[in-house]
Amino acid sequence: RTRVSAILEDGDALAGQRAVVGGWVVAGREQGRGAFAFLAVSDGSCPAALQVVVEAGAGAGVPLARLTPMGTSVLLEGRLQRPPAGSSAERVELRVERVIEVGEVDAAAYPLRKSMRKPENFRDLVHLRARTNTFFDNNGFLQPMITTSDCEGAGEIFQVTTLFSQGGGTIPYKDDGTIAFEDDFFKRQAFLTVSGQLQAENYACALSSVYTFGPTFRAENSRTSRHLAEFWMVEPEIAFASLQDDMNCAESYIQYLCKELLEYCEKDLEFIDNKFAESPTAIQCLKLVSSTLFERISYKQAVNILKGVEEGTFDKAIEWGIDLASEHERYLTEKIFMRPVIVYNYPKEIKPFYMRLNDDQKTVAAMDVLVPKVGELIGGSQREERLDILKKRITDSGLSVEPYEWYLDLCWFGSVRHSGFGMGFDRMVLFATGLENIRDVIPFPRCPGRADL
Ligand code: 4AD
Ligand code: MG
Repeated sequence: RTRVSAILEDGDALAGQRAVVGGWVVAGREQGRGAFAFLAVSDGSCPAALQVVVEAGAGAGVPLARLTPMGTSVLLEGRLQRPPAGSSAERVELRVERVIEVGEVDAAAYPLRKSMRKPENFRDLVHLRARTNTFFDNNGFLQPMITTSDCEGAGEIFQVTTLFSQGGGTIPYKDDGTIAFEDDFFKRQAFLTVSGQLQAENYACALSSVYTFGPTFRAENSRTSRHLAEFWMVEPEIAFASLQDDMNCAESYIQYLCKELLEYCEKDLEFIDNKFAESPTAIQCLKLVSSTLFERISYKQAVNILKGVEEGTFDKAIEWGIDLASEHERYLTEKIFMRPVIVYNYPKEIKPFYMRLNDDQKTVAAMDVLVPKVGELIGGSQREERLDILKKRITDSGLSVEPYEWYLDLCWFGSVRHSGFGMGFDRMVLFATGLENIRDVIPFPRCPGRADL
């Protein structure tokens, strides 16, 4: 895809060239008794929109009226050209030759209106306001830490309650010595976020590609060497991206991090390797990961490989339908492939509701990136963009649809294929330092039984 900002900047130089553009219609109209549609398409790369001309027939059966409502998502291929002499347009425009994908909008239900201009108009539409060109000028954003929805649907969430002081700053102890909590503040139950993903999806479906980096919280009762109750996650989210694109992005991101570490932190890495000398050393691991292609296997293949391993090797037996434990993940990377491994297409039962259901109806378009010594470093997926299936997946997972209404709006209004992942920052530090336990790579670890110091 070519970004709208690049087209508008280099306009004249690009005239005559082919381009694929993906984005959302900010204004559209039909003209010449349905012979043409004129669209203004924005992809969030700049405040301005690209003028697009679609001739009836270019849409491969897509009626022009389906392209014009505000908020419609489009993936279009065509030729860039200077506006014809006498036209009011000033900049290069896209003449569409092929409509690749359309995510429709029911104009009557779409809550954004052209007439809305003031910030207060969007305050109750915070999940859609990134689709206006008012608020944002770059693609990183800060996620909220307080939410009402459980992104992973696993119920491993911390609840937020207020501790109202009753004047004088005293803590409101009750007679039995416990503290009186009130839940009135948000007027509903609120939690600490387990992931910024759902919010990132709202932004990706307006700005094309975004990332968030922030603290996340999990009330998982796992006393392992790689789980924390409070950790940081880097979460990119990319519109118009498939699971393949997601895997490519994750692989090149990890390789980039390893290369940067080797280039800029060599002295620190040598210091750590000397102090905690182990084989392979952290530097050897970073070199390996930065320079080899990652292996890619399906969950099914992974299970078959692991089932073939001599009995008694694993504490937990493996069979189809069971999530990989860290011993399995490490075995694949350290004993079988000797490099990072991306495992994809997991059974839907062991993955969250938002992952896209595959055609086999049994697996979802998930991927985990596993690295030596750590196991899972990244978890990601292609997202379910089909409204009916997503709703069913939410209820089938035993969740209530209500806290996810705003999330469903993404599928309802100009839905697009999109994918993303989360990289545990502390797990990356664990990998980079070659240390054994994640509690040693964060200044103040939070885990079961430890909330102080
Ligand atoms: O696989 P997870 O649970 O995926 C998500 O949260 C998705 N919503 C991410 C996304 O698609 N945007 O977590 C992602 C990564 C894991 O691969 C792991 O590196 C790290 O976050 N992680 C933890 N790190 C430390 N302690 C924990 N309890 C962790 N849980 C997950
Ligand atoms: Mg995971």
